[in-house]
Amino acid sequence: MILILLGPPGAGKGTQARLIMEKTGLVQLSTGDMLREAVAAATEQGQAAKAAMEAGALVSDDVVIAITAERIEKEDCRDGFILDGFPRTVAQAEALDRMLDEKGCRLDHVIEIRVDDEELVKRIAGRFVCTKCNENYHDPFKRPAIEGTCDKCGGTKFIRRNDDREETVRARLAAYNRETAPLLPYYQARGVLRSIDGMNPIGEVAKEIELLLAG
Ligand code: AP5
Repeated sequence: MILILLGPPGAGKGTQARLIMEKTGLVQLSTGDMLREAVAAATEQGQAAKAAMEAGALVSDDVVIAITAERIEKEDCRDGFILDGFPRTVAQAEALDRMLDEKGCRLDHVIEIRVDDEELVKRIAGRFVCTKCNENYHDPFKRPAIEGTCDKCGGTKFIRRNDDREETVRARLAAYNRETAPLLPYYQARGVLRSIDGMNPIGEVAKEIELLLAG
């Protein structure tokens, strides 16, 4: 199965992708995580991406398409994957169509997670992430079961992302509305788009996605 999770920053794409991964065994491909790793390793792609990410703007299509094209060729993508944060422009969506055509695969589902802007800002402001496995937490909404210890990997170090400051979040939201929202009619026209209410608690959103995937 090939699934795209679409939605603005903080909508819960990463949180839901990880839950789907646990249930189905499909691998989560987060372009944000891949780019952050490239920045940390100071690769050529990371250096090209750094300034845009810090400003809350989109990284150039060339860089992101190259990273994704390379990633989906890996063995763990053979039975499908969950795209979290890709595509984000029509040019990226067209590139994905070509990649899937070449592999003889088809896109099964595009799920849009809808959340109000003020809620997004709140969610992002409260987010912290395990440095070892990237599991997301949130100050009031999702704390580790044992304080200071990651539920998933037992890690004890957490960070807050550089681009999670309020002014950068607003720039990321503007980029979403300008460049990514046009993907909704793009996928609607292909008959693969479903929209869900992402304002509900994490478990309820997960159940709704499960029903969509089953149906
Ligand atoms: P990326 O890392 O993809 O960030 P994003 O899309 O802005 O999304 P987030 O990771 O912030 O949010 P999310 O929807 O995954 O929410 P999460 O589950 O964490 O991209 C970062 C940057 O990389 C971009 O700005 C851009 O520069 C670049 N980039 C990446 N891909 C690119 C591309 N394709 N093209 C160009 N540039 C690209 O949840 C957020 C918080 O809320 C968490 O704390 C979570 O615990 C909590 N939460 C989740 N769901 C709920 C719920 N239902 N109720 C209450 N709390 C919840």
